[in-house]
Amino acid sequence: MSTTAALIETEYRLGAHNYKPLDVVLSRGEGVYVWDIEGNRYLDCLSAYSAVNQGHCHPKIFKAMIEQAQKLTLTSRAFRNDQLAHFYEEIAALTGSHKVLPMNSGAEAVETAIKAVRKWGYEVKGVAAEKAEIIVCSNNFHGRTMGIVGFSTDPDARSGFGPFAPGFKIVPFGDIDAFREAISENTVAFLVEPILGEAGVIVPPVGYFAGVRELCTKHGITLILDEIQTGLGRTGKLLAEEHEGIEADVTLIGKALSGGFYPVSAVLSNSEVLGVLKPGQHGSTFGGNPLACAIARAALKALTEEGMIENSARMGERFQNGLRDIRSNIIKDVRGRGLMLAVELVPEAGGARQYCEALKARGILAKDTHGDTIRIAPPLVITEDQVDWAIEHFAAVLASA
Ligand SMILES: Cc1ncc(COP(=O)(O)O)c(C=O)c1O
Repeated sequence: MSTTAALIETEYRLGAHNYKPLDVVLSRGEGVYVWDIEGNRYLDCLSAYSAVNQGHCHPKIFKAMIEQAQKLTLTSRAFRNDQLAHFYEEIAALTGSHKVLPMNSGAEAVETAIKAVRKWGYEVKGVAAEKAEIIVCSNNFHGRTMGIVGFSTDPDARSGFGPFAPGFKIVPFGDIDAFREAISENTVAFLVEPILGEAGVIVPPVGYFAGVRELCTKHGITLILDEIQTGLGRTGKLLAEEHEGIEADVTLIGKALSGGFYPVSAVLSNSEVLGVLKPGQHGSTFGGNPLACAIARAALKALTEEGMIENSARMGERFQNGLRDIRSNIIKDVRGRGLMLAVELVPEAGGARQYCEALKARGILAKDTHGDTIRIAPPLVITEDQVDWAIEHFAAVLASA
């Protein structure tokens, strides 16, 4: 039996309970919409945590995937394939980076950057052996691997999973003095999200990143921006660093790099940092495979040629203004950039989850995070009418409280 209840029961019985999804079983997606197995349509306001920026099942990405899958899917990097060089060329031209290292998941891109930057610290900066330090921020989210959760400050992410790797210092996000004080002669990198995503869409104070950039340059510290969620149009710019008027030394992208068809991530850097990796020191069976490269090329093309980044800026402003106009005594804050938005509720509202359930009943899928915050991140192809329709329903749900 494949009823909603039966599928949920089977998932619960056989699967590990490491997620607590809304009880909606989806079977189809197109553009900003997804449909459940009962035929109900929803406006997707999560976009698979910003992986589906180009909209569900984008036809041109789909075509590229099918065409490539009929020819060649995987060679491993033991041999070369005819897609990788083109992927490098196109992403380098788009982002201005000099070197690219393709991986699969976002967490793998983060781990790759950590490895490369430590080696760079020893070989180029001259840090004493085994002493390299990386500064990170409290409330960070960079993924779920052992290396990464070791420097998380979220008890759910790290409790019970130790021991963890040393070499990380944690400072408050947005506090330039704390960052300055944490710097030592052993600091090789600052790893940070331009906007804290999982922590609830926390936008940094004006001038923070300009200050960070200056200190990194002054002290020879590699600035690694994790743009896995903020990148590729989500905030209304190709990369969120553009809002700050700075350039990272290493940029991490993933998620929307495939438009949601396939796990594809990449580390982008100048030649110095990725240049330290020699054959045999890092790799991935699937990283840089021809199918992933063909999909990523089509995904980047769709994003840039179809005006999605500009639309994200315009629709993001409309959405944010609409949310700000809602008169409700339970809204504490509305914030975000582009189509990376959040509504934080007052503690008396009793948690964001029930409002996400109410939105679901009205045909909107949004995600609660950290108890009191509703995250809103629709595909970047959303239209004015769809934004206005969504605002009406957010207003009805939040005003009725
Ligand atoms: C900023 C950031 N970094 C890294 C990751 C990890 O990506 P993945 O889940 O593909 O490993 C995420 C995922 O949500 C993220 O938001």
